[in-house]
Amino acid sequence: MIIESIKLRDFRNYEELTLKPHPGVNILFGQNGSGKTNLLEAVHYCALGRSHRTSIDREVVRKGMPMAACGVQVRRENGRIDVAVKLTPGESRKKQVFVERKRAQRLSDLMGNLQCVIFSPEDLMLVKDGPAVRRRFLDMLLSQLSTGYFLALQQYHKALEQRNAILRDVKRGGRCENGMLDAFEEAMAIPCQTLIPMRRHVLDELAECAGQKYCAISGRETEQFGMRYVGCLREDGEIVSRVRDALRQGRHEDILKGATGFGVHRDDIALTLSGRDMRLFASQGQIRTAALSMKLAQMEVFRRETGETPVLLLDDVMSELDMTRRTSLLREMSGVQTFITCTDESDLEGCREKRSYQVFLSKNSSARVREISQGEEIPPQPDFQEDPELQ
Ligand SMILES: Nc1ncnc2c1ncn2[C@@H]1O[C@H](COP(=O)(O)OP(=O)(O)O)[C@@H](O)[C@H]1O
Ligand SMILES: [Mg+2]
Repeated sequence: MIIESIKLRDFRNYEELTLKPHPGVNILFGQNGSGKTNLLEAVHYCALGRSHRTSIDREVVRKGMPMAACGVQVRRENGRIDVAVKLTPGESRKKQVFVERKRAQRLSDLMGNLQCVIFSPEDLMLVKDGPAVRRRFLDMLLSQLSTGYFLALQQYHKALEQRNAILRDVKRGGRCENGMLDAFEEAMAIPCQTLIPMRRHVLDELAECAGQKYCAISGRETEQFGMRYVGCLREDGEIVSRVRDALRQGRHEDILKGATGFGVHRDDIALTLSGRDMRLFASQGQIRTAALSMKLAQMEVFRRETGETPVLLLDDVMSELDMTRRTSLLREMSGVQTFITCTDESDLEGCREKRSYQVFLSKNSSARVREISQGEEIPPQPDFQEDPELQ
């Protein structure tokens, strides 16, 4: 799939932007703080209705403005589609989604129209950090593939919050409403019927692809990279009643903790190298290769599941990679629309179908984007002071 146009309005430091990107590689040059990542973030919003770096929508609304909007026109095998997101943090309806310029009922209507895979230096956290990062990776991947998954996840989290609210209330001395707990536990168990099998299935696929990518990058057949779903239910079989029973059994302990100890919100992905836990012993180089392999595997899963190539967003990754890893990534970029932030054009030698842009700040310090013609020197910019309030 290809993004044919991007439109922003009061999004981060963009007052207004209309961009018709190249179907190949789009390189964004610009000083720190000029708005390169902000542009990738806007594309991410159009795919998932949320940022990749903050969970607070208000942060992306241009300072002093009441609303922000971003939209893209996407060309897919089966035609064109127009999607947009409008954020109005001060109003009762804080987030609105538009599909084909018509307001959609639900956020889930946005999902599945645009698929993107984002690479950033924070990907290393996928290997190094706790389970939450890996769950988010899985949830973002599956939400872009299946509206059913996204809806089930929303239902699950709503019920989980309600159950937790009761637990905290009882802990503070409130009356234990067993009937309410029964209802919320049932409401948590039902979506698990969708979530667990989909997580299992996609992890099988991811593990296979990531294993191959890892081998290709490391060049070592002996290092086997493994990904395994570590779910709340250890065995296959009926799901709803087992989740419901486990939640009921855990009630007493959960009240003491004021939180729910069992469920898919505790799931994880075990990452191993030749059978050993990566978090315990992996070197920096192995961590980098693993993180990159996981993202490349995500691309491959999107391709297989949708028959379309996703859009790639690469934020400051090239300079972090050595030659071998860079070459692997460049190979994957061929024939895939890519948006890449970059400081050094030599990082991208060998990439043919490309266009360069300069992201810079105008006098009123809003971001602008202009195409750089071939051979043109990028004029130096005055030093720019970041607004400390927005850090
Ligand atoms: N809500 C906002 N309103 C206005 N400017 C913002 C907002 N959020 C961030 N910025 C500005 O955007 C800039 C950061 O943009 P970013 O895309 O991260 O830079 P880079 O080009 O280094 O990737 C900073 O100057 C920051 O002050
Ligand atoms: Mg940046």
